[in-house]
Amino acid sequence: MSRVEVALGDRSYPVLIESGLLARAADALAPFAGSGKLVVISDEIVWALQGGRLGLDAEPILLPPGEGCKSWAALEALLDRLLALGVARGDHLVAFGGGVIGDLAGFAAAILKRGCGLIQVPTTLLAQVDSSVGGKTGINTAAGKNLVGAFHQPSGVLIDPACLDTLPPRQLRAGYAEVVKYGLLGDADFFAWCEANGDKLIAGEPDVREYAIQVSVAAKAAIVAADERETGGKRALLNLGHTFAHALEAETGFSETLLHGEAVALGMVLAFRFSAERGLCPPADADRVVAHLDAMGLPTRLGAIAASGDRLAAHMRHDKKASGGRLPFILARGIGEAFVDQEVDLAEVAAFLDRQRG
Ligand SMILES: NC(=O)c1ccc[n+]([C@@H]2O[C@H](COP(=O)([O-])OP(=O)(O)OC[C@H]3O[C@@H](n4cnc5c(N)ncnc54)[C@H](O)[C@@H]3O)[C@@H](O)[C@H]2O)c1
Ligand SMILES: [Zn+2]
Repeated sequence: MSRVEVALGDRSYPVLIESGLLARAADALAPFAGSGKLVVISDEIVWALQGGRLGLDAEPILLPPGEGCKSWAALEALLDRLLALGVARGDHLVAFGGGVIGDLAGFAAAILKRGCGLIQVPTTLLAQVDSSVGGKTGINTAAGKNLVGAFHQPSGVLIDPACLDTLPPRQLRAGYAEVVKYGLLGDADFFAWCEANGDKLIAGEPDVREYAIQVSVAAKAAIVAADERETGGKRALLNLGHTFAHALEAETGFSETLLHGEAVALGMVLAFRFSAERGLCPPADADRVVAHLDAMGLPTRLGAIAASGDRLAAHMRHDKKASGGRLPFILARGIGEAFVDQEVDLAEVAAFLDRQRG
């Protein structure tokens, strides 16, 4: 079993990673969940496919799958049920599912009785390498995604890579983009490892999956420990590719047309191409990024998205960090060398995007 510590003083917690860990959940949780009650929250698909493997004696609260659950209405209904069950501050909600369940149950845990315990048991690759670690929770509102939420760190995270056996391949590939992100933003050796092993991860080799998850979680844990609330700039590096991605997702209506991880893959390509165009990064590095993501079946070409550069840049202007037509972007000096450029001119980005489509 691998164990990664998220070092946050008296709120530190372990991330445990092992194939088959679900079956031993009760024992694995015991040291950090205390003696309180455990209430499992899951979605219907996850429960049908993986619920039988979870070794916890607890009746689950099930929600319909999908982003629609990250809503005021679903949050309200969930809180009412938890209150009816008499959940107390010393009890733990167990978020058993993808990022949607993690974000919703995490936010419920943040505000129920002013904060109760939370355990993350992520079941998608995206949730295992990204959303379950770091304490960001929240819901979507009419004004946009993830605009209402709270920081609420879990007491522990249990990751069973075998959960991924039932994940649809497209979701798996999308989550893989976030794995590659850790290599691209700060670890050139890990990116090279991804180039050599990515296909084995997709094919389901247990050791390869466990290693990729462990390196990704360790990278995220280090960044979160250094900058828990994204005030120092370090945590912002996790947004590599994401400013482009959010514009592409907004343009495609946050729909099945483009999954988040797919948008991130294309966004990382754009961040590297833009960096290369500006003379910051060797063009050969950008080509390597394209070649690997392409080989893994992720989108790397803007051609399929019909929007003009201006239109995509208009989505970026709505970003809460935008001011005076400028926006911070994560750019790169090379593979494994991302940095924050605080003031990128959106007109320059729009012109760049038009050239990419040509
Ligand atoms: N809090 C954070 O730091 C953070 C970071 C990144 C993303 N997010 C959020 O995460 C959400 C996306 O998460 P996601 O990609 O995991 O999506 P998701 O939770 O919607 O899961 C995707 C689909 O896979 C199904 N599924 C989950 N596990 C499965 C399994 N083991 N086998 C078969 N099917 C399974 C789900 O039922 C769902 O239909 C977004 O709402 C995003 O905003 C949060
Ligand atoms: Zn992401």
